[in-house]
Amino acid sequence: METLVSSPTPESLRMAGEILRSGGLVAFPTETVYGLGACAMNASAVRGIFEAKGRPGDNPLIVHVCDPSQLDLFCTPMPSLFPLMDRFWPGPLTLLMPRRPALPDIVTAGLDTVAVRMPAHPAALEMLREAGVPVAAPSANRSGRPSPTKAAHVLEDMEGRVPLILDGGDCQVGLESTVLDLCHGRPTILRPGGITREMLEPLLGTVDLAGSILRPLGDHEVARSPGMRYRHYAPRGLVTLVEGDESQVLEAMKRLYRRDEAEGRRVLLLCFEEHIPDLAGFAHCSLGSGRHPEETARVLFDRLREADTMQMDRIYSEVTPVQGLGLAVMNRLGRAASFRTLSAREVLGET
Ligand code: TXA
Ligand code: MG
Repeated sequence: METLVSSPTPESLRMAGEILRSGGLVAFPTETVYGLGACAMNASAVRGIFEAKGRPGDNPLIVHVCDPSQLDLFCTPMPSLFPLMDRFWPGPLTLLMPRRPALPDIVTAGLDTVAVRMPAHPAALEMLREAGVPVAAPSANRSGRPSPTKAAHVLEDMEGRVPLILDGGDCQVGLESTVLDLCHGRPTILRPGGITREMLEPLLGTVDLAGSILRPLGDHEVARSPGMRYRHYAPRGLVTLVEGDESQVLEAMKRLYRRDEAEGRRVLLLCFEEHIPDLAGFAHCSLGSGRHPEETARVLFDRLREADTMQMDRIYSEVTPVQGLGLAVMNRLGRAASFRTLSAREVLGET
């Protein structure tokens, strides 16, 4: 299959709408990451998403709408969701809602809730309007790869697997949406994202965090969000986080670098912009300013992909406080590292 990459023009958006209505796939930009869409009401179209991504069938998809009036077709939102939709849609907030039987099982992997969001990217909204149907879309990466935040990332993973990629430029948020569950007891964030806990609590009171956000899921623990079970966001090289005093972290990372390099490994340091001047002679990438987690969020997946392109064997990364968007950043970095963390003090003390 030939893959066409086009900026969102009236023609390409109309073509996207036609492809979606006729059961095909379209990759499209959102404000979070690029999505791989298919008509949510068409089971065989949705099957195509799982095939193109190589995604396990028990991991449910998010349904995208361009207007809350589309919800009635496939779900029955509880009244407690309306203030959230008013306040945060369109935007990076995905809400679980009780599903209707008309929605094919494959979308929800058999669950009785469906995850829904209204994206804020103008091209996504225009494409959804052209399609006229709700669109099921996971991130447009091959399963296990970091989510795509540029059309070039989508092409890397999906060339030949999808007829059309709409190129809407770099994604503004850079991490996937917040997934919020109001269907099962206390409000719980299943996946942190652009709409932070701090933004939700004034409307909801205390918001819980799913257990596996900052640590691995235990052997006998049930994931509230099936996606949390899978190794994710991971480049091929081994990622390790280095935490501790700012003054020690950089020294520790350099020591680890030299040790691995001496063993013949290719090593990359992921560091905040403020520390880049101290890294002459070390292969490194910037995570943006350590004072602005939104900068780190925007570039993180690109940096993890770059580590692959550069064929790095070992990647060491600084960490950021888990406040605001920092929580989502640390969730993705943590999962990329399988939560492997070293203390700078111990690294410096041990050799
Ligand atoms: O920002 C985003 O959310 C992007 C863009 C394209 O909208 N989409 C995205 O989709 O990240 P995906 O499939 O990569 O992640 C969906 C997450 C998974 O962790 C999945 O397990 C969870 O949402 N999820 C979907 N339906 C669910 C449900 N009914 N209950 C619990 N978790 C659900
Ligand atoms: Mg994904």
